[in-house]
Amino acid sequence: MTQKPLPSDSPLLQPVTAGALQAKNRLWMAPLTRNRADADGTPNDLSVEYYRQRAEAGVIISEGSQPSAVGQGYPNTAGAVTDANEAGWTRVAEAVHADGGLLVVQLMHAGRISHTSTIAGETPVSSTATRAAGQIFTVDGQQDHTPPRALATDELPGVAAEFADAARRVVRAGADGVELHAANGYLLHQFLADGVNDRTDSYGGTPENRARFVVEVAKATADAIGADRVGIRLSPGHPFNDITEDDLSVYETLVAQLAELGLAYVHLLAEADDPIVGKLRAVWPGTFVLNTGFGVDDARDEIARLLSDGVADAVAVGRPFLANPDLVTRWTQGADLNEPNQETFYGGGAEGYTDYPRLAG
Ligand SMILES: Cc1cc2nc3c(=O)[nH]c(=O)nc-3n(C[C@H](O)[C@H](O)[C@H](O)COP(=O)(O)O)c2cc1C
Repeated sequence: MTQKPLPSDSPLLQPVTAGALQAKNRLWMAPLTRNRADADGTPNDLSVEYYRQRAEAGVIISEGSQPSAVGQGYPNTAGAVTDANEAGWTRVAEAVHADGGLLVVQLMHAGRISHTSTIAGETPVSSTATRAAGQIFTVDGQQDHTPPRALATDELPGVAAEFADAARRVVRAGADGVELHAANGYLLHQFLADGVNDRTDSYGGTPENRARFVVEVAKATADAIGADRVGIRLSPGHPFNDITEDDLSVYETLVAQLAELGLAYVHLLAEADDPIVGKLRAVWPGTFVLNTGFGVDDARDEIARLLSDGVADAVAVGRPFLANPDLVTRWTQGADLNEPNQETFYGGGAEGYTDYPRLAG
């Protein structure tokens, strides 16, 4: 349904600062795994074109990208591990910058949400040795998750260092920052969640202990590239990827410590009226980014309301950007949107990736 054009003073179109990021608007692109990188995790010509097309976003948060080989969850995800990966990100960053955008690379260690065939025969690692229920996509189709091994206490600094090294790489490649993926059931969430983390060392049990590893990863990454270039994504209580969480107080404990580090932003995946939004906003003095799963509906005016009510400083949207490279223009003009095609979300080529049309003219 065509809507009225946005007024030029719409909160959506106002600039916003998040640490070192000076975003031209408040409509950010949410991280979207698309499984089209080269098999070694290198962003390729298609990736360059896909991100270049979406440079209208205030900030592009990239697809989840593994900070280490064992951190890969799915085939053809992007990586931030090798020189070749770095060269690929250099081309993406140049293209996005040339069109006036900002690029944040999401660092996603999948932890136990993986399969040994995806990680060259290695065993996935986690906060726990318990296998995640459910199946995962592999080159041989859907298979049960491989049972992980619990990381030993003395291995954890090394994993934090991998995040820091990956962040150094992508910033050297020209990215404007990184987002630590501590949401959606992947490794960092596996430490936060009381229903998954069954450790008896100082990284399990109390909220302070469950937050400890995430804080250490954030600190190591901030030391590597500057806290003002590090954001973090959280999804409190989101049951995705076999997460169970009863004690959400871990998030207030965590965010209060992240505030001391001075990270660039907190990016929360939650319903706008979930009490956790206000609770975390209260302990987080910095830039607050919200993704409520706005989905495919034309949620423009609802987003503008959330911004003008101060519920968030910026919003991230996923599928609308996936299907509309010129989403900011479309929402500014009140134009209709392309519908995302779920069949082409994960894997494949240009179809459903770089061929969504822009508005004519
Ligand atoms: C195809 C696809 C891939 C996704 N990949 C990621 C990812 O790599 N990292 C992440 O944090 N969230 C990922 N998500 C979740 C989105 O960032 C977003 O939270 C979700 O799509 C809801 O927002 P939306 O309704 O605006 O799309 C993905 C979602 C989709 C549909």
